[in-house]
Amino acid sequence: MHVKVVTGDITEIEADASIVNLFEGVGQPGGATGAVDRALDGAISRLIESGEIKGKLGDVALIHTLGRMRTARVVVAGLGKQPEFALDKVRQVVAEACRFLRKKGARRVATITHGAGVGGIEPEQSARAIAEGAILGLYTFRKHITRDPETSDLEELLVVERDESRVGQLERGCRYGTIVSEAANMARDMINEPANYMTPSNMAEAARQMSADYGLECTVLEREQMRELGMGALLGVAQGSHQEPRFIVLHYRGDPGSQKAIGLVGKGITFDSGGISIKPSEGMAEMKGDMAGGATVMAALSGIARLKPRVNVTALVPATENLPGGAALKPGDVVKAMNGKSVEVVNTDAEGRLILADALCYARRLGLSPLVDVATLTNACRIALGKVCTGAFTNNQELVEKVIKAGQEAGERVWQMPMYEEYKEQNKSDVADIKNTGGRFGGAITAAQFLGEFVEDTPWVHLDIAGTAESDKEKGYLVKGATGVGVRTLVGLTLALAEEQA
Ligand code: BES
Ligand code: MN
Ligand code: ZN
Repeated sequence: MHVKVVTGDITEIEADASIVNLFEGVGQPGGATGAVDRALDGAISRLIESGEIKGKLGDVALIHTLGRMRTARVVVAGLGKQPEFALDKVRQVVAEACRFLRKKGARRVATITHGAGVGGIEPEQSARAIAEGAILGLYTFRKHITRDPETSDLEELLVVERDESRVGQLERGCRYGTIVSEAANMARDMINEPANYMTPSNMAEAARQMSADYGLECTVLEREQMRELGMGALLGVAQGSHQEPRFIVLHYRGDPGSQKAIGLVGKGITFDSGGISIKPSEGMAEMKGDMAGGATVMAALSGIARLKPRVNVTALVPATENLPGGAALKPGDVVKAMNGKSVEVVNTDAEGRLILADALCYARRLGLSPLVDVATLTNACRIALGKVCTGAFTNNQELVEKVIKAGQEAGERVWQMPMYEEYKEQNKSDVADIKNTGGRFGGAITAAQFLGEFVEDTPWVHLDIAGTAESDKEKGYLVKGATGVGVRTLVGLTLALAEEQA
């Protein structure tokens, strides 16, 4: 779907439908909604008076214009209570309105710039949120469904603006919103793909395709090269599967004169059965999404490549299955990571930290800094924060605050968790330098502390997206399945870091 800015009057635009809005409790609509109300001889204010339109957040009311306007339908989208209004509400409201209009068969839809009037939002931000809400909210994954869809896609969303001087800002917002949400949808596509279609090799193939499409550099390490590098933890996890592991490296070079580069590392377990410490079969299918972190950093790089900030970024994705084959790691086995540290594998289901250990060592070898890793790492994080926030863990307060801020601007909530030394006690092993689980208590934190052993003093943030990577319902701009969480945060963070350097 295309989102574009057009100059004109919302009451005169030609489209299948127009989206206007209303704050809860407002009796007489103003601004663009007021203009539409007048064009409709007061239909909106009368429906407010009769209590049919209330403006509650997420409400959509449909009015047929019956020849009084060039658009056949007007949707009045509720923005909720004005004091509670925020940018993310624009994304949510536009998503709901677009899905509603898709069901009605609309193809070409016009919208006003929600929140840019009395809502107090910058026009550029509003346009960005409109594009994000529409593109994320209309996402579907139908690749494996052969029957025809019941609804056709929205083709065009027109952001209508009367004031010529605002068009430049609106266009910038639309462009940014389109790029980052298309990137998030790319991550969603990869994550939603069944594990038999998204093997480590398929993931590497997707990386190569991406590098060709967006002008990135791509290298893929195979088992033998991992062995030469001493990636014993990653190879340990891979040895239970017939699928070959892959270590994906993607470079974006926006500042070729500089040696510095940001490192984004993503967990790429294309299926997590738990290995010999096998998971219960109920819910195991969900573990096709255990490569969400890897998909996130890859997709973020595609967005970065389109926005072209002046900075270098490298994405690293250790990709393997975690299966209980005859050669699989066994509880009690000891493996050696790339930095020489030995790890006792107490539980083969704590595989994410093993593959990330080697990936973080490799990131340091490449001199990448700062480092951000993204992983569906622990159920403990999902228990602690639910599906609302991503957990953040760090050795650098300044960096985590930038990540949290980038998340806030993207509408992705990030909550910092503690990293007190005392937790490290739980990771101590009697037979190796460290063990791969610290027990049930504080499980998300001990997992993060484990990763911390491999980043040493490099500024680093670990994002645990176990709770936020998937949605079980359609709500706002989320649909059932993968959310693509983290992509927009990482793109925003990269742009902010680039700006700082300049
Ligand atoms: N991929 C899982 C974590 C996970 C669980 C993500 C549920 C999304 C939803 C991870 O590899 C895992 O199995 N973690 C274990 C660690 C434990 C054995 C220390 C967990 O959280 O139970
Ligand atoms: Mn696991
Ligand atoms: Zn896992």
